[in-house]
Amino acid sequence: MTPADRAEFLRKEIERHNRLYHREERPEISDSEFDRLFRELLDIEAAHPDLVTLDSPTRRVGAAPVSEFPSHRHLVPMLSLDNAFDESELRAFDERIKKLLNISEVSYHVELKFDGLSLSLSYSDGILVRATTRGDGTMGEVVTDNARTLRGVPLSVRPFESTDVEVRGEVMLLKQDFETLNQDRAKKGEQAYVNPRNAASGSMRQLDSRITASRKLSFFAYAVAGGRVGRSQSECLGVLQERGFAVHSSARSVVGIEAVLDYIRRAEQDRTSLPFGIDGVVIKVDSFDQQQELGFTARGPRWAIAYKFAAEQAMTKLNRIFCQVGRTGTLTPVADLEPVFVGGVTVSRATLHNFDDLYKKDVREGDTVIIQRAGDVIPEVVGPVLSNRIGSPERPPEPLICPECETPVIRKPGEVALKCPNRACPAQISAKLQHFVSRGAMDIEGLGSKLVDRFLEVGVLTDQASIYALREHQSQIIELDKLGETSVQNILAAIEVSKNRPLDRFIFGLGIRFVGDRTARDLARHFGTLEALRLSTYDQLIEVPDIGPRTASEVEEWFEEPENQALLDRFLGYGVSPAEADAPTGDRFAGQTFVFTGTLTQMTRDEAEAIVLKEGGKAAGSVSKNTTCVVAGPGAGSKLAKAEQLGVTVITEQEFLAMVETPS
Ligand code: IVH
Repeated sequence: MTPADRAEFLRKEIERHNRLYHREERPEISDSEFDRLFRELLDIEAAHPDLVTLDSPTRRVGAAPVSEFPSHRHLVPMLSLDNAFDESELRAFDERIKKLLNISEVSYHVELKFDGLSLSLSYSDGILVRATTRGDGTMGEVVTDNARTLRGVPLSVRPFESTDVEVRGEVMLLKQDFETLNQDRAKKGEQAYVNPRNAASGSMRQLDSRITASRKLSFFAYAVAGGRVGRSQSECLGVLQERGFAVHSSARSVVGIEAVLDYIRRAEQDRTSLPFGIDGVVIKVDSFDQQQELGFTARGPRWAIAYKFAAEQAMTKLNRIFCQVGRTGTLTPVADLEPVFVGGVTVSRATLHNFDDLYKKDVREGDTVIIQRAGDVIPEVVGPVLSNRIGSPERPPEPLICPECETPVIRKPGEVALKCPNRACPAQISAKLQHFVSRGAMDIEGLGSKLVDRFLEVGVLTDQASIYALREHQSQIIELDKLGETSVQNILAAIEVSKNRPLDRFIFGLGIRFVGDRTARDLARHFGTLEALRLSTYDQLIEVPDIGPRTASEVEEWFEEPENQALLDRFLGYGVSPAEADAPTGDRFAGQTFVFTGTLTQMTRDEAEAIVLKEGGKAAGSVSKNTTCVVAGPGAGSKLAKAEQLGVTVITEQEFLAMVETPS
């Protein structure tokens, strides 16, 4: 047998065993026998590089790292779906379809809406030649090496009728594999992923595909673009499955809207027990002829809709209520919970917002409570399940003293928040420092929350400015918990770089009440320098567009405080010199307010906003009647809807760029 024949045999054999193991769960050989076949193929390919094929299973372990992902245009754009959030919207969808098709009952194909990362696999004559992320829907990033490592992605298949097709589906990380991945990351001191979707997305965007290969990702196919496969969605999925793609068994053909609603109710019930995350159900008109008749709107197909589940809730036991002290001294009651998996993550703490809210909900220690987590927001306690309450636990008392420094707490008239007034409270200092070094502020890499606390504990940090004196404690830090020379040098270098961060980030980092990143930017632009802001009066502050009396007085008070003046002097003494905010160089957008939403492709949102600012305009985060124009990319949701509702002009990114590029 020639090496070519042997390689061909091994490729087929290895893929067959892969299939038996992963898809059919009935392996015929042991892991070590499998490894032996695999190594033999690797050896042949190493000796005869010309024998390596695009679909060789050796490619599943990843290839050499790349420096970037090239962009590629999808054969057919990857559109998104309209959303429905309740039954009435679904009934309206069904009515619309019946009317357009002039029929009395519709055959639908209902599928779970996988909460992962969408991916398009290009097959040419049955060989996987390219894999592309969704990107902006038209162009995506080419991640072929990464895709070859996925379970459920065949590297070659019996060719389809059309030469070139794109198989679409979702990359998923099972809940269990997500937990293991995060545990491993924690051990290595790496940051945890917030949910399986983020982890799947992060894993697919690794420049080194060997890392992707180590992540145990799955792929579920749900569509084919670029050619009809079968006569209906149900037939199409059947063909895909038969060709070796993973198609989830939950998909069904149903007739009429009542059956659709039934399926949704069941999916919602099964949601928590599924091994992967879903965020809804996709309802598609089954017949391809009918799909074609219905066609598309500018946003997506008229023949499909995504039903989105409400925020995910779960029940668990509340063990204890304690208070957390934030950077401005606010005491927030927090529930310590029996860990529960909800909204894609394991939650062991949830906020109770404030004591007024806690009493209104009547939550007590030992209660069974309902936890809710929507999107990426902090999980919250919705309320207790009173029928499960055992005995009559006491109402948790409002704290009289700060749990961290024992200073008596205060409550400003008219405010719900309890506050620790002690500026030297260790919890406040720690929270302030963590905010200062965080990504949106001074972005000091390597100086995470654990290190900040440790440095505070041993006294090498005392306040934000002391970060810039850490260099003086270099030898002590290197010895501390065996941090080591290299990591300390890296942190010190990151601190050095941060000295010239833009002024708005520095202002945001100071953690002044009511001064979020946007207000910080407004202040930086208006005053230009830290010195000018320091000298500003209430009357000048209130002049800044979008700054109200509440914020103006907080800012004024903050800068009047002698302690804060001293803090600023120390920053300057250590050579911190925030880069001045750029003054506008044009006036094309003077008096106009822009909102950017959805995915932008030519630039990041920050860059787009910077263009508006440079041209004398304003960039806002939310749409109101004062908005001049909304620039919407693919994936735009509630902001786009709001703009349409208010009659605000909506343009595409390309139209925005054309505006910028045309000479005025
Ligand atoms: S069909 C023409 N089916 O949901 C649209 N999409 O807004 C074809 N998704 O980002 C999409 N599960 O990645 C379809 N069973 C499923 C899906 C699904 C998840 C995602 C898809 C897209 C979004 C649609």
